[in-house]
Amino acid sequence: MNAVRILGTGSYVPPKILSNHDLEKMGLDTTDEWITQRTGVRERRMADPDITTSDLAYEASLRALDMAHLTAKDMDLVILATITPDTCCPSGANWLQAKLDAPQAVTFDVTAACSGFIFGLNVAEQYLKNGSVGNVLVVASEVMTRTLDWTDRTTCILWGDGAGAAILRLGDEGHEILSTHVHSDGANGQDLLMPGGGSKTTPISHESVDKKLHTLNMIEANASFRVAVRHFIDSIKEAAAFNEVAVEDIDWFIPHQANLRMFQSMAKTLKIPMEKFYVTLHKYGNISSASCAIAFDEAVRDGSIRENNLVCLPVFGGGLTWGSALIRW
Ligand SMILES: CC(C)(COP(=O)(O)OP(=O)(O)OC[C@H]1O[C@@H](n2cnc3c(N)ncnc32)[C@H](O)[C@@H]1OP(=O)(O)O)[C@@H](O)C(=O)NCCC(=O)NCCS
Repeated sequence: MNAVRILGTGSYVPPKILSNHDLEKMGLDTTDEWITQRTGVRERRMADPDITTSDLAYEASLRALDMAHLTAKDMDLVILATITPDTCCPSGANWLQAKLDAPQAVTFDVTAACSGFIFGLNVAEQYLKNGSVGNVLVVASEVMTRTLDWTDRTTCILWGDGAGAAILRLGDEGHEILSTHVHSDGANGQDLLMPGGGSKTTPISHESVDKKLHTLNMIEANASFRVAVRHFIDSIKEAAAFNEVAVEDIDWFIPHQANLRMFQSMAKTLKIPMEKFYVTLHKYGNISSASCAIAFDEAVRDGSIRENNLVCLPVFGGGLTWGSALIRW
């Protein structure tokens, strides 16, 4: 009765596709070949200008609620993981609450960049285990394409838009979250940075806009690649050791989807066959917090994850943040 269970998952990506060839056509100094070889990304989804993060979250939430046979009115807590909320005040979760028509729920955002979904699960786990809530909706949603400098070829090729969700409850029925683990390192977290928009640079000025401070900056992308791989590996080992299972006993690895070469490095170091990695980054790119939530939902829905499978979701993101969830399906 004390286990945290997943009752349903859902995801949504906007229909508009932006391919590597489209980026070439936009005049970006890049090629489909370069992007595919260095990242594994072939195309990404892009929300229309009038679509917000809470709109994508709403669609993913409805799908998760449907699978769980519950409604928004059954939710006691709604946690939205995002670094691209509709507005900072109100929170993205509050915009979502209004769309879901769930006035009974407590709602707030969790900001942990690409690790956000696992941080959200971790927070939900604490609320559930202390008995203060019954049903929790955890959603991760991002409109990353609105944060990009489309002339910065190292950064803008990587990102896309979308949302993933899960419904959690304590009990005997559903799929068990065996553990979640989260970590942060603020002292080394400035390499993936959106300098503008916060108290550091407000009020917004012509100068801050001219300097593109409101777009995502990736400094030392090479170094962040290596740090990411190290933390992914540590997170997998931590989840396995905590639950006293061997890494080779894990059936599926569904990491944050940043770069296919990161998956290959993890596979090589941990001696995991590449077939055990569930990949969506070729079609969606990096959707920050939503990446592994979407991949997880797609793996559930296409039957890749089977009953009793052991599924590991390792994540790494700006901040720095990292961690994992281990799930017995
Ligand atoms: C960004 C990333 C794909 C770059 O790949 P890389 O193999 O490290 O490439 P480098 O940065 O060494 O650049 C190699 C060359 O390609 C060029 N280049 C960069 N982006 C390019 C692009 N889109 N198209 C063509 N050339 C590009 C660079 O300018 C550089 O040229 P130079 O040798 O003349 O200076 C890779 O470092 C990465 O994925 N890093 C992790 C970033 C990340 O995902 N962080 C968040 C984790 S949540």
